[in-house]
Amino acid sequence: MSKNFDVVVIGGGPGGYIAAIRAAQLGFSTACIDEWKNAKGGAAPGGTCTNVGCIPSKALLQSSEHYEHAGHAFSDHGIEVKGLSLDMKKMLARKDTVVKQNNDGILYLFKKNKVTFFHGRGSFVKAVEGGHEIKIAGATEESIVAKHVIVATGSNPRALPGADFDEKLILSNTGALAIADVPKRLGVIGAGVIGLEMGSVWRRLGSEVTVLEALPAFLGAVDEQVAKEAQKQFTKQGLAISLGVKIGAITAGKNDVTVNYVDDKGTAQKAVFDRLIVSIGRIPNTIGLNAEAVGLKLDERGFVAVDGDCKTSLPNVWAVGDVVRGPMLAHKAEEEGVAVAERIAGQHGHVNFNTIPWVIYTSPEIAWVGKTEQQLKAEKVPYKAGSFPFLANGRARALGDTTGFVKFLADAKTDEILGVHIIGPQASELISEAVVAMEFRASSEDIARICHAHPSLSEAVKEAALAVDGRALNF
Ligand code: FAD
Ligand code: NAI
Repeated sequence: MSKNFDVVVIGGGPGGYIAAIRAAQLGFSTACIDEWKNAKGGAAPGGTCTNVGCIPSKALLQSSEHYEHAGHAFSDHGIEVKGLSLDMKKMLARKDTVVKQNNDGILYLFKKNKVTFFHGRGSFVKAVEGGHEIKIAGATEESIVAKHVIVATGSNPRALPGADFDEKLILSNTGALAIADVPKRLGVIGAGVIGLEMGSVWRRLGSEVTVLEALPAFLGAVDEQVAKEAQKQFTKQGLAISLGVKIGAITAGKNDVTVNYVDDKGTAQKAVFDRLIVSIGRIPNTIGLNAEAVGLKLDERGFVAVDGDCKTSLPNVWAVGDVVRGPMLAHKAEEEGVAVAERIAGQHGHVNFNTIPWVIYTSPEIAWVGKTEQQLKAEKVPYKAGSFPFLANGRARALGDTTGFVKFLADAKTDEILGVHIIGPQASELISEAVVAMEFRASSEDIARICHAHPSLSEAVKEAALAVDGRALNF
């Protein structure tokens, strides 16, 4: 096997494995190095997303939603479920199977595209003639030479000072996705994406969930109207959300965790939980890369410093995904991976940061692309807004899921769509239409004049676009 490659990717998450496949498609001899181990110590490419992120969280969200529907929502349809019970072992085993299918899928794709896969930790050794020497420490140790290196080493969960993750009582996303028995009292610190998704899973399965958030505003980055509706719905579902808290000492006992905090009124509080999930953001992972020794520059927050094209401070070394600036999202990592492979091939790789969608997979789902209303106000951009509630959508009524709305924000003069915000059923799927429209710089009138199938949830998107000019037909 050749020890020289045109492209070596360090990290096999969505940024890395996709970059490797695209590089191979473009005719480069390509290797991808990933150190993730499955329970048996074998290779498990796919990174955080596949192993302890996007995929297992969505598997559990689906399972827990089925459980909740079987318990409540089905009876509205005239379906009575008797003797409902929960087999946590089976639910977790199914989630693990879904993860493994994805790991295996990536190994298959590597074979298909002739990407050489190395299982182990990759690190920079030195610059050599023809590129960079990379050491791989796995079952054995070997060295390869890469003309181009793509760093895609991802991120790790941020711990609270004095409360290290033990993954038994104090859990990161890894532990939160593998709780063997439904905890009676579950604490969540951080009402961000992970806190709300994981809090929803365990609430649906029976936990009393308390979410403690430092900021005074709920989902501050989300359009205010959507955030307000989301807070109302989650509270109605039983998530106890406290905003504006200041977390103090956290002490793990034998079977429980005590969290001391000061609430938004300045009163000292103490809460005891059977499990505590800490989801207060993630930090870039450059551990073991030997970045410093070879002069790979990090920024002041520890991310690999890159320019707009994902070029690092070293010649022919690129970086993509969670380890560089920008949203920590799998699809953003993938887009950067493809763009870098294409730039290496002399093509015009392109990532449009204005049209990266966000989705929170709670129930109702929350999805958005582009600017929020508060951003447009702050930037003094004149805009028009139009909304349409799912309550007025026939398909949503047939589904029995009428929570939420679609909201369009368009430029007051040109009518160009500036942002679309959805809270409600299938928001994760519906947002794609808005992404496509914004990518093509469409106006709200363009969407309003397109024929949408009836009855479908997508009609709510069309109606919201019509509402921008006060022409909604069904509301
Ligand atoms: P990662 O996926 O972190 O992959 C990096 C890989 O590099 C890992 O396999 C790591 O082991 C490996 N590695 C690191 N250093 C080395 C080294 N020196 N040598 C060899 N290998 C190395 N995003 C979404 O878009 N949608 C979602 O629904 C979503 N859900 C999420 C749910 C949770 C609970 C979490 C935690 C995250 C979620 N994310 C989601 C975020 C998403 O997982 C990340 O944005 C994405 O995984 C980043 O991809 P990446 O390739 O940059 O890094
Ligand atoms: P987050 O940034 O989404 O939320 C963290 C929350 O914790 C914030 O609301 C923050 O104000 C709060 N916080 C920070 N420090 C705190 C403290 N000391 N006390 C109390 N609250 C505190 O981060 P999260 O949820 O950890 O997720 C990390 C990232 O993973 C997300 O930002 C996202 O990029 C990605 N992700 C994406 C998902 C998706 O796309 N559906 C799902 C899950 C994660």
